[in-house]
Amino acid sequence: MGQPPKNLSRGHLLFRPIDLGEDSTPWFKATQDPAMYVWTGNPVPASLVEARRVLENYQTHPDIYAWCVRDLEHDDMIGVWWIGVPYREEGTTRSFDAQRIFRRYWRTGRTQAARRIIYDYVFQELGIDEMRAAAWADNRNSCLSMEAAGFHLADERHRWNPKHGVMMREREYVLTRENWRDRPKKWVDWRLPHDV
Ligand SMILES: CC(C)(COP(=O)(O)OP(=O)(O)OC[C@H]1O[C@@H](n2cnc3c(N)ncnc32)[C@H](O)[C@@H]1OP(=O)(O)O)[C@@H](O)C(=O)NCCC(=O)NCCS
Repeated sequence: MGQPPKNLSRGHLLFRPIDLGEDSTPWFKATQDPAMYVWTGNPVPASLVEARRVLENYQTHPDIYAWCVRDLEHDDMIGVWWIGVPYREEGTTRSFDAQRIFRRYWRTGRTQAARRIIYDYVFQELGIDEMRAAAWADNRNSCLSMEAAGFHLADERHRWNPKHGVMMREREYVLTRENWRDRPKKWVDWRLPHDV
């Protein structure tokens, strides 16, 4: 798996499969910023080879579909986004998602635009009923970014954070098809056509 079923494109954003030849260097450069890794499991890659290996893992992981996300206007990679291969549970089709957006693009409207592309796709085309995502409660960017998209808190538990060496609150968020349909309309539409 790993390879996504299709490219997704709208406005100035493109989701396409990871290309190790093209994406490893921009990925390595952007992931040298430790701010990208405060709340994630893996460490800052120590070399280009290691960065490439991380991307390759996303690309070939059997449980996910992973895309490289590009800003077409600036011909630049903005990060990586992945979703879980959909599964059935309790009569519901579920998946999960996670992303690494390069720091220079945080809070620029691109993450929100990317969410619009990916969630329209999963709910309208893949037939998913419910997306799930986990974040440490102190990962303010991640929690607020999800809440702004309509995710709601489903669970919060204490879990050992090996990177920080302490127990921390971890949140599980859920976004249903209805949450997404009824999401806050105040979103800035970063170079995307307006909703119809
Ligand atoms: C988590 C991540 C994807 C969030 O993306 P982002 O571009 O920073 O945030 P968004 O643009 O989606 O935020 C949406 C809204 O949430 C709120 N928000 C997000 N972060 C905020 C912050 N630090 N303070 C206040 N409000 C915030 C704002 O209302 C924002 O809208 P605005 O910018 O128009 O005001 C990004 O920061 C990232 O990739 N971080 C590193 C890796 C990571 O932690 N990934 C997630 C864990 S798997």
